[in-house]
Amino acid sequence: MIEDSTVSCYDRHAQAYDLYQFAVVPGYQEMLDLVAEACRRYLPQEAKLIDLGCGTGNAALAVLQKIPSARIYLLDGSERMMKVAAEKITSAHPDAALGSRVADLAGSWEAGLVGGGYDAIISTLVLEHLPFDRYQAAIAKCYRLLKPGGWLLAAEGYSEEGSDMQEWFFEKMEERRKAIDPELSDFVARLRDGWETHYYCRKAEKEEWWRDAGFVQVNVLWQYLCIALMAGRKPLSKSGEN
Ligand SMILES: C[S@@+](CC[C@H](N)C(=O)[O-])C[C@H]1O[C@@H](n2cnc3c(N)ncnc32)[C@H](O)[C@@H]1O
Repeated sequence: MIEDSTVSCYDRHAQAYDLYQFAVVPGYQEMLDLVAEACRRYLPQEAKLIDLGCGTGNAALAVLQKIPSARIYLLDGSERMMKVAAEKITSAHPDAALGSRVADLAGSWEAGLVGGGYDAIISTLVLEHLPFDRYQAAIAKCYRLLKPGGWLLAAEGYSEEGSDMQEWFFEKMEERRKAIDPELSDFVARLRDGWETHYYCRKAEKEEWWRDAGFVQVNVLWQYLCIALMAGRKPLSKSGEN
């Protein structure tokens, strides 16, 4: 496992993650479904993808349910999360794994991956954990790894000036937390409160960073309170036009 407080938080509750995440995080399933829908719409049947910060593999699995002949490279900083993901994907889709790696998204995670080799990079609830300079570096690496015409699809938390959408979201989470086993709920909530770091900003700011990295067709496809799914495309031609 890499040395990172957020990653160690996830590593410690890898076995409880799915139970907590699906029950407690508002819009989680909907977000996964839309990532998968977008992949079905934009990608070829034999698509090659990277799931960046795959966690326990829920986004990868959702994509494979819509495009069973796709193949996915799994990458996360937590060994235990990755182990759950690898088992989940290989048991449901034995031929789908392109490979896997435990690596720090704030470091050289892309080393050895094929530049221009992927139809899409998906990333759900991960990039908000990177400081902004690391975020911009990661987006630039994604751009290099994508084929011309390839897509970056990233769901993250945002904060917008003058909006209470984060407070509202966290209130909803608290309500949902009460409906699950209190021991599990307290265990995960304590870990996340104590160890997880987020770097939130406005959607417009990240959209601009994506465009600076070269992405076109940058748009928000879906939003549930403070969680939004952004899509951007690497241009088909060198001139930046599609
Ligand atoms: C909220 S979970 C999301 C997991 C999965 N994408 C999902 O939608 O369920 C955040 C994941 O990001 C990973 N992560 C956070 N910071 C990271 C970093 N710097 N390098 C690698 N992985 C990181 C954590 O280990 C964790 O698996």
